Parts: sequence; C-alpha cells; structure tokens
Amino acid sequence: MRFVKTGLFNMGFYARYIFPRILDWSLGAPEFGKYRRRALEPACGETLEIGFGTGLNLPYYPEAVTKLTVIDSEDMLRERVQQRIADCPIPVTKMRLDAQGRLPFNDHTFDTAVSTLTLCSIGDTSAALAEIRRVLKPEGRFVFFEHGRSDDPRVARRQDRFNPIQKIIGVGCNMNRRIDELIEGAGFKITNLDRFLLPKTPRLLAEMYRGVASPQT
Ligand SMILES: C[S@@+](CC[C@H](N)C(=O)[O-])C[C@H]1O[C@@H](n2cnc3c(N)ncnc32)[C@H](O)[C@@H]1O
Repeated sequence: MRFVKTGLFNMGFYARYIFPRILDWSLGAPEFGKYRRRALEPACGETLEIGFGTGLNLPYYPEAVTKLTVIDSEDMLRERVQQRIADCPIPVTKMRLDAQGRLPFNDHTFDTAVSTLTLCSIGDTSAALAEIRRVLKPEGRFVFFEHGRSDDPRVARRQDRFNPIQKIIGVGCNMNRRIDELIEGAGFKITNLDRFLLPKTPRLLAEMYRGVASPQT
C-alpha cells in the first residue's frame, strides 16, 4: 500500500489508521462469509495466502488445509489479527512480505495459493503471479476470489472513468482489472471460473471472479 500525501488530506493517516478499519468492517460483513467459504473450498494441504489483510478468510478454510503461511505487505490491526490467528485450528505463520518481490520459499513448496480481493491492489500483478507460480507445486492450485472488470462494455467504461478515485479511496485498489486475463497471462490455466455480481454492492465493485487455476499450461 502506498501512502499518498495530498495538500488536502494526509493520506498516510487515512491509509494507516482509518482504511484498515473500513476494510475489516466492510469485507468482514457476515454475508460475505459464504462467498469466502465457497471460494476456499478447493484449498488443501500446505497453503500460501497473499494479501492476508486482517485475516478474514481464517474461519473459512476447509479441514483439508494442513498449514497456512500468510503474507501481506502491511501489518494491519495487529491485535485483532493475532486473536483471529489464535482462534484458527490450522497452524498459521504470518509474514510481512511484498508479494511482488522474491518470496523466501523454495520452488514447488505449496499445494495451494490463495488470493482474495488482493489482485486489485497489487501494483505489479505479473511479478506476484509469477512468484505464486514458482512456489506452487506443479499439481498445485491457485484459488482466487476477486473483483474486477465487467464484461459489459458500458460498465467497464464507467469503471475506467472512476478508477482513479477508487485508487485513492481504496488505497491502491483498482476496479477495472480483467482478473482472468491477468492470471492466464502469468502462465496459469484456469480450470474453473465463476463470474457473478455481488448482491447489494455498487455495480462497479460487484463484478466477481471466483475460480481455480493450475500452474501447468
Ligand atoms: C482489499 S485487501 C483484502 C484483504 C484480504 N485478502 C481479504 O480478503 O479480506 C488487499 C490486501 O492486499 C494487501 N496487499 C496489497 N499489495 C500487496 C503486495 N504487493 N504484497 C502483499 N500484500 C499486498 C493489502 O495490504 C491488503 O491487506
């Protein structure tokens, strides 16, 4: 997350203290849980989660997940997150790491990699996805649940128009990314993709991509 300072408002203060609470409140809404559970169903074995945020996926991992390594470039709401980790029955290792850089894991370490609502915020998604591909086992899976660009050209045009504002309000979040193309462009093969609109959500942010991709093409 880049802290932007403007003449009007100190974005560093917003990004550091206000935004994490907004994020935790909005993405932690109980009705969101069923989407998280469904998205995480295919996860199993040793699992890497990128863009861990405030740990909102933790209650929804299936029993088949044996070990979790979670990374984020920020360290948000530390005490709340530590409590969520303590409540999680799966062993969790949390690390502060930028997903765009070289990750400190050997090639083919993980059975599953997970990204939920994070590919919108990463600056260099190609670099991050290439690293995910490297650390996944060849038979592993990349599980994703993301919002992104609409298939409807009129909506997509509005997303392009409002994206600069979204990047400020959402501290680097883009609403107009074609998530499936980013994933395939990084050498994954998408084996399952659900496209749907999130109910009770402004259309520009409601275009969901949920699926599974394989690192082998
Ligand atoms: C919108 S939040 C989603 C949090 C969480 N995945 C969820 O589903 O609630 C996006 C997260 O991605 C993290 N992030 C953004 N860029 C990152 C990067 N380059 N490396 C690691 N994490 C990043 C942010 O710090 C933030 O926690």
